[in-house]
Amino acid sequence: MIYLNGSYMPVEEAKVSVLDRGFLFGDGVYEVIPVYGGRPFRLGEHLRRLDDSLRGIRMESPLDDVQWLEVFRQLIDGTHDQYLYLQITRGAAPKRDHAIPVGVKPTVFVMCSPISPIPPEGVAAVTVPDIRWQWCHIKAITLLSNVLLRQEALDRGAIEGILIRDGRVIEGAASNVFAVLGGVLTTPPKSHELLPGITRDLVLELARANRIPCEERQMTLAEVRQADELWLTSSTREILPVIRLDEMPVGNGEPGPLWARLHQLYQTYKQHLRNP
Ligand code: PDD
Repeated sequence: MIYLNGSYMPVEEAKVSVLDRGFLFGDGVYEVIPVYGGRPFRLGEHLRRLDDSLRGIRMESPLDDVQWLEVFRQLIDGTHDQYLYLQITRGAAPKRDHAIPVGVKPTVFVMCSPISPIPPEGVAAVTVPDIRWQWCHIKAITLLSNVLLRQEALDRGAIEGILIRDGRVIEGAASNVFAVLGGVLTTPPKSHELLPGITRDLVLELARANRIPCEERQMTLAEVRQADELWLTSSTREILPVIRLDEMPVGNGEPGPLWARLHQLYQTYKQHLRNP
């Protein structure tokens, strides 16, 4: 079952107008919220980021927090690991016009899907130029650059593209990036250049709570090539160790000790949610 504009229905029955601005312009925003033990993970943080994305495109949330939670409750299926995908577009205006229409009802779509298991042996990534627009802090559904960059990574035998702008590492095509540089867990600071990842924030929170040295600062690609460890973080991939970058081993070519530590802390944190 999925949720569309106030109704629950099988996905095959869900229909959206061809005049929907999501379809015509990619005019909308989204969220991906993990669900562990039947409970949405870091729900408040995800809903606040949704508000920020909506404000960034001159929209307001069509549902309040209580209403969102009710929709999620209806869609969450059992207690296995799953994720909610939530999308809001500016809706269907009577004609195609770039200008923002007045008085159009947004289209609200939510579905819940299983999370695929995370490969603990690590993955390969490649560097790609960051060809995206300049408002990457907004979680916009307009993802053509991300799609092309991820596909370039897959074509080159890797699972993720790491985006480079002016010689700096920014984030992944659908993830944030952490590197262990001289024993310090390092990630680029929040800015319009990257999505403020909810997993990113949790990793920093867990590191700080456990006195693991960490720093938010710009990282050059040259530095990252020398990193002891490199990780990707996202709601659906948690903390994923990168063991090859551009076909060269990262560190000793295996998931590193700091990754093992943070991975364990993350699993313990998740477990609390499953059995509070
Ligand atoms: N993507 N950066 C980008 C560009 C992303 O698309 C994502 C997540 C992240 C990580 O954010 P978070 O930790 O809040 O999931 C960073 C989701 C999972 C997606 O598009 O499917």
